Amino acid sequence: MKVEPTQFRGLYFDGRDVLTKNLAPGESVYGERLVARGGTEYRHWDPTRSKLAAYYRCGGSAFPFEEKSHVLYLGAASGTTASHVSDLCPSGTVYCVEFSPKPFRKLMELCGRRKNMFPILADATKPESYAQMVGKVDIVYQDIAQRDQARILLRNTNAFLRDRGTAFLIVKARSVDVGSAPSEVYKGELETLRNGGLKLMEMVALDRFEKDHAAIVVRKP
Ligand SMILES: C[S@@+](CC[C@H](N)C(=O)[O-])C[C@H]1O[C@@H](n2cnc3c(N)ncnc32)[C@H](O)[C@@H]1O
Repeated sequence: MKVEPTQFRGLYFDGRDVLTKNLAPGESVYGERLVARGGTEYRHWDPTRSKLAAYYRCGGSAFPFEEKSHVLYLGAASGTTASHVSDLCPSGTVYCVEFSPKPFRKLMELCGRRKNMFPILADATKPESYAQMVGKVDIVYQDIAQRDQARILLRNTNAFLRDRGTAFLIVKARSVDVGSAPSEVYKGELETLRNGGLKLMEMVALDRFEKDHAAIVVRKP
């Protein structure tokens, strides 16, 4: 199939799947398919394995990843989505925060093979513990299943996000409140972000790929 650029820099589509250019040619990170076209290798980006790919496939229209973007990624696990962010920002930096030792081991190996990814074993609720390693960033992306997701994001955007930078909060409604309707949970998280001074760009439900999840995209004024 022909691989064509999308409206977003660094993101490609082959008529069925979304793809990124492989920054580490020959390597598949999580079993995703690699395809070569015109001397370039691309990686299929699976929306059932990555909520950022799901966000795009569900119509998300805020895609601020530039060639040189600096990104703080909270809840990197073993690096599935973070590796695609690394493809999207080849001359930038992806700081990958993860607090669970098991996925962190795989994440460290992956970062060793990718020049722009840096692993940080730390708790995202304590940004002061990694402040020495992370400078100002253009984008904060958070995907951690915690009860106070929005407040954790705010602590990090206050510490690291530059003015007019973008933040993505992937909300897992059931981690915040099992008893409430997901739409109410999303509203509550958005309210917390707004009270913290962030402006809504868009909110996209990801149910087509991840039940009871939404992506909230906000901007620092
Ligand atoms: C849903 S998984 C992330 C999947 C990953 N974002 C991806 O798409 O490839 C959530 C991860 O967040 C991590 N996590 C949860 N709370 C955290 C915290 N307070 N600090 C750092 N990592 C955390 C978990 O250990 C887990 O690996």
